[in-house]
Order: sequence, then C-alpha cells, then structure tokens
Amino acid sequence: MPHILILHGPNLNLLGQREASIYGSASLAEIDKLVKEEATRMGLEVTILQSNYEGRLVEAIQDARGKYDVVIINPAAYTHTSIALRDAILAVNIPVIEVHISNIYKREAFRHKSYITGVAMGQICGFGINSYLLAIKAAAKIIKERKGV
Ligand code: DQA
Repeated sequence: MPHILILHGPNLNLLGQREASIYGSASLAEIDKLVKEEATRMGLEVTILQSNYEGRLVEAIQDARGKYDVVIINPAAYTHTSIALRDAILAVNIPVIEVHISNIYKREAFRHKSYITGVAMGQICGFGINSYLLAIKAAAKIIKERKGV
C-alpha cells in the first residue's frame, strides 16, 4: 500500500486553543483523525508526526527516503525561515506538498515568503483543515500517476 508522511510544524500541537479565529476550533488530534480517514478512503497508509523542533522535521524528511511515496508538510512558522527544511526536501527525491490552514498571502507580509514552495510540487493554503484533505487527494493522484495506473 502506498505510504504518505504528514509533518506538522511548530505550535500546531496547540490547534484548537491557538488563534481560533485564524486556525479554527479543531484540535490536532481531531484533524489527524480526519486525515487518517481520508487517507484510508484513498487507499493510502499514513504516518503523522508533529514537532516544534526544526531539526526533528529535517530528520523526518531525511528518513523519509525510500519509505514514503509523498510527504505532506505544514512547516508552520518554519515556512518563512527555514533554509534547512528546504535543503532537506532538495536532498530527498520525494514529492512534497506544502499545506497551510490559513491563506498566508492574505496575512502579514512576512508570511508571504515561503522557503518551501520553490522545492515542493505545490502548495495548498487557505482552506482551513480542508487544506490537509485536499493535499491527501493530490497525493493519491500523484502516486497513481507515478505508478502509471
Ligand atoms: C500556518 C501559517 C504560518 O504562517 C504560521 O506560522 C503557522 C500556521 C498555517 O497553517 O496557516 O503556524 O502554517
């Protein structure tokens, strides 16, 4: 079964309690449950990791080589700062989908810059927690196309 990795960056463990007017009221556990259900519907196995540490996310991307077909990542604030995450994505030959709950282009100017988009297959942002579900659909399509099915 194809296997996808979902990475949640810093402060996303506080979803539901954190700036609910921007990020909504669902907790990370609730989002992960929906994500798992959608992945199962799409015939995908899913592994999910949240970390507040940049290095942990870098390691997870490095370790994804040979294990996962697609990586979906919400790099959170590291989106706007992390050359290390960008380089890790460049170092592994795995399609990456960047996800954001909020529309980062409607927000403060410092959020308009993403170090990740230029090395990702694409970015999905602004659809609330549906951004994750759309990313899973995109991942399923990418995997299907790559396998020539
Ligand atoms: C976010 C957007 C980032 O700018 C922010 O730092 C986050 C969450 C989003 O999902 O909308 O923590 O990645």
